[in-house]
Amino acid sequence: MILILFQGYILGNAATEPTVEENSKIPFAHGMGLISNELYESLKMGCGGEYVNVDPKNEVCLNDIQAFSKLTSEIEGAHILEPRCPFSSPKPRESSRKRRSLNVNEQSQEFLVPEPPLPTIGCRTYGYLLSYYWNNDYNVRKALRIRLGSKGEWQRCNFGLPYAREIHSSFSYHVSLSTKGYRSLIYSGDHDMMVPFLGTEAWIKSLNYSIVDDWRPWILHSQVAGYTRTYSNRMTYATVKGGGHTAPEYRPAECYAMFQRWINHDPL
Ligand SMILES: *[C@@H]1O[C@H](CO)[C@@H](O)[C@H](O)[C@H]1NC(C)=O
Repeated sequence: MILILFQGYILGNAATEPTVEENSKIPFAHGMGLISNELYESLKMGCGGEYVNVDPKNEVCLNDIQAFSKLTSEIEGAHILEPRCPFSSPKPRESSRKRRSLNVNEQSQEFLVPEPPLPTIGCRTYGYLLSYYWNNDYNVRKALRIRLGSKGEWQRCNFGLPYAREIHSSFSYHVSLSTKGYRSLIYSGDHDMMVPFLGTEAWIKSLNYSIVDDWRPWILHSQVAGYTRTYSNRMTYATVKGGGHTAPEYRPAECYAMFQRWINHDPL
């Protein structure tokens, strides 16, 4: 048996209640200026705030959802202000292109795998490609004490694992962990449209805990880094202003300060 001395938990833009998150994309897109007021009002009226399980006979709603999809299809979901770039991670391995090795270390040839598609320089995903080279470098693997032959190549996101998704919502876990009194920090990069902060705020609200310290800015280097609020279930909620789906990637200094304050039991 593995005993985990569980003390609390941190989550960032975490998929929790898929319906809630999917529905929150529409008010998010409206608030961010991606769709018109008229379309937003029509969506609210026609769909009644429910954009996931739409009655197939409700043509007004379906047409509006189609218009919404068209207007937002070219937006980068992980951060709506960033350029839309190909996702740099070898999804199913289709190509068996020859490895273009950046390092000339012979031993690194132990994994001959198709590398990720080349992203455009200037795209955030270009850094992910470099991380692929770095993590698969012989000396890096040696430094990380990865035994030869024990593990194939490192992938940034492993899409290849065969498993069935059994848990579609983790809301009930938050109910239970709250009851047991665990601390939590739930943060949201506020420019993420994959799991928008509005969706996170919606499921937090439906936990029904009262607010202890109400909405206020939290500060780093005399600048507003985001907004925060705490609840009576020892939950701290925080937005990371300008952050995307993986907030620390976009706002490392701010997220590090947020983490430090929380882990030290200090207010954000
Ligand atoms: C929160 O309150 C609402 C309304 O009273 C209720 O329907 C819901 O079940 C409550 N949520 C939880 C997690 O207890």
